[in-house]
Amino acid sequence: MTEYIRFHPGSVDYSERVELLKQKGVTIWFTGLSGSGKSTISCALEQRLLHLHKFTYRLDGDNIRCGLNRDLGFDHQSHVENVRRIGEVSKLFADSTCIAITAFIAPFQADRTIVRELHEKAGLGFVEVFIDTPLSVAEERDPKGLYKLARAGVIKDFTGIDSPYEPPEHPDIRIKTVECPVAEAVETIMKYLVDGHYIS
Ligand code: PPS
Repeated sequence: MTEYIRFHPGSVDYSERVELLKQKGVTIWFTGLSGSGKSTISCALEQRLLHLHKFTYRLDGDNIRCGLNRDLGFDHQSHVENVRRIGEVSKLFADSTCIAITAFIAPFQADRTIVRELHEKAGLGFVEVFIDTPLSVAEERDPKGLYKLARAGVIKDFTGIDSPYEPPEHPDIRIKTVECPVAEAVETIMKYLVDGHYIS
C-alpha cells in the first residue's frame, strides 16, 4: 500500500517555523543502563529549559511503554522497534521546533545511528548524551529493585544482565554520574547546547 502514499509537505516548512517561533528543533538523546540516571538528569534538564521558557518535552522509556509502546517487550526485536518509534516521534517533535529530550536505554549502536541519521537527513539537531554509569553502580543503586529480580531470574532479558548494552563510542556528551552531580550534568548539557547554537 505504501506505493500509494505520498508525503504531504504542508504550507509552512521547518525553516519558516524556526523563524516564526524563534527556536530550533533538536533531539537530546540520552542512553544508558537502567538505573544509570537518565530519567533524573533528563527531568532536571527539562525543568531548566522550561524555566528559560524554552519549548521542550521529555519522552521517557517507562512512560512511553505505558502507552504508545505498550505492545513491546524486551526481546531484541522489541528494543529495535522501541527505538525506531521513539526516533520517529522525537524527529516529529524536533521538526515542530521542540527540544525533544528522550530517556531510553536504547541498547544497540546500530539503532542509535539510524535515529541520528534520520534527524541529520531532515536538517534537525541530534545530541547523544551517554549516561556513563558502570553496571556495578547501577546495580548497587537498583532504584526499582529490577536488578535484584533479574539476578534471581524472575525478569528475563534484563539489559546489562542477560541482554547486552552497547555503550556509544563517540557520544556528543558523556556524563559520568559517579563523579558528576545532577546540577553539574545539566550545566554541561546546557553549555553544549549554547556553544553549538542549538539554543540561544
Ligand atoms: S529500551 O532498551 O530502550 O528498549 O528500554 P526502555 O524503553 O528505555 O525501557 C527501559 C525501562 O523498562 C524497565 N524494564 C526493563 N529494562 C531493561 N530490561 C528489561 N528486561 C526490563 N524490564 C523492565 C526499566 O524500568 C527501564 O527503565 P530505566 O529508566 O531505564 O530504569
